[in-house]
Amino acid sequence: MTTAPLDFAPLLATGLPPPAVKWNGFPKYNFVGGHNDGEQVPVDALVAAATAVLTREGRTLATYGLESGPQGYRPLRAFLVDKLKRDAGIACTADNILVTSGSLQALDLVNGILLNRGDTVLIEKESYQGALNRLTKLGVNAVGIPLDQDGMRMDALAAALADLKGRNIRPKYIYTIPTVQNPTGTILPQARRHELLRLAQEYGVPIFEDDCYADLIWDGKRPPALHAMSGRRDVIHVGSFSKSVSPALRVGYIVAEWDLIARMLAIKTDAGSGALEQMVLAEFCQQHFTTHVPALTRGLRKKLETLMEALAEQFGTAAEFEDPKGGIFLWVKLPASVDTMKLYQAALAAGVALNPGPEWSVDKGYAKPRMRLCFANPSHEAIRAGVAALAEVCRKEFGVPERIANVERRAAGS
Ligand SMILES: Cc1ncc(COP(=O)(O)O)c(C=O)c1O
Repeated sequence: MTTAPLDFAPLLATGLPPPAVKWNGFPKYNFVGGHNDGEQVPVDALVAAATAVLTREGRTLATYGLESGPQGYRPLRAFLVDKLKRDAGIACTADNILVTSGSLQALDLVNGILLNRGDTVLIEKESYQGALNRLTKLGVNAVGIPLDQDGMRMDALAAALADLKGRNIRPKYIYTIPTVQNPTGTILPQARRHELLRLAQEYGVPIFEDDCYADLIWDGKRPPALHAMSGRRDVIHVGSFSKSVSPALRVGYIVAEWDLIARMLAIKTDAGSGALEQMVLAEFCQQHFTTHVPALTRGLRKKLETLMEALAEQFGTAAEFEDPKGGIFLWVKLPASVDTMKLYQAALAAGVALNPGPEWSVDKGYAKPRMRLCFANPSHEAIRAGVAALAEVCRKEFGVPERIANVERRAAGS
């Protein structure tokens, strides 16, 4: 008997997002996402770390959570306690740390214990798409605070807090990426951090500090984390190994008071994040983190320089950007006539993938001519060729750039 295949369509839960698109490989010139530099993955040291830790402790894989419990592999949390003290000034214990499956899961857990539909949060006007999308999906009102070259503007934050208070709205948190902001690449100076903490305290609003790029600073100098400066329990700090070692490992973490961790553990229903990657990372990081990161950062800086040179060469003054203080992204402003949502489509057809600005901002109109380019993954040659291809597409679609190297370029057919 032949039967028709079961039709799942009428059985699907209501309110699902549209289906995912099938992955068809990476585009030729890949400037999207938060990928890292393949050349800089410390493969040999990771192999040695995996062999050492598995030989020594492999049998602990027999139990959920190894012998460390649900908060994550204890030697990794011990490494983080030392690292966070040394680099960010955070004083915490292993009990204050929850290891997560990437810091995206950390965002879900923090949102999960704090947010209800209809709530309000404050967020940098340009911000991480993953954070913005989550808020939209949760039905949370995200109030955008403008940035300048020193990150979130405190005058604007003060005004927004006062305005919300005037309307009897108490925001659930202030989400910030203060140390190498995504996408702008700014670092919030220490004085502004004090002011942010003061305002948060005055209005009784927690701070949600997302510090995942803090290791990738060109001069290696960072202000203390907001969590460290607060000396209080009102900052939830999240971090990640995605940018400093590898995003595919999917290891992030949350630093918070135990009573909040206890709440998050109660909604972290995956029976523990992947153990092998935590074991390998702990083994690797104890020996190599402090030498690996500066070498990675030097390489990233060189790629950024290649990208900025290529943009200057191909787009001339049509591409405006601030030299970011670290990280893996350049936030580029094109002339107002360019709609980067349309540019994105046309560029993709030519093998160039970029992140259109509106996906990275609460203010879609403001971000329309802006785009985010990730320079970590493509080779120097691909960066040059990709920017040249992008300039061709942009010129065809929008007549921009008009001139390169002071030579007028006519749009095709004109
Ligand atoms: C600001 C920010 N937070 C969190 C993440 C999530 O990173 P992961 O889940 O790989 O740790 C990213 C990734 O690009 C990011 O830019």
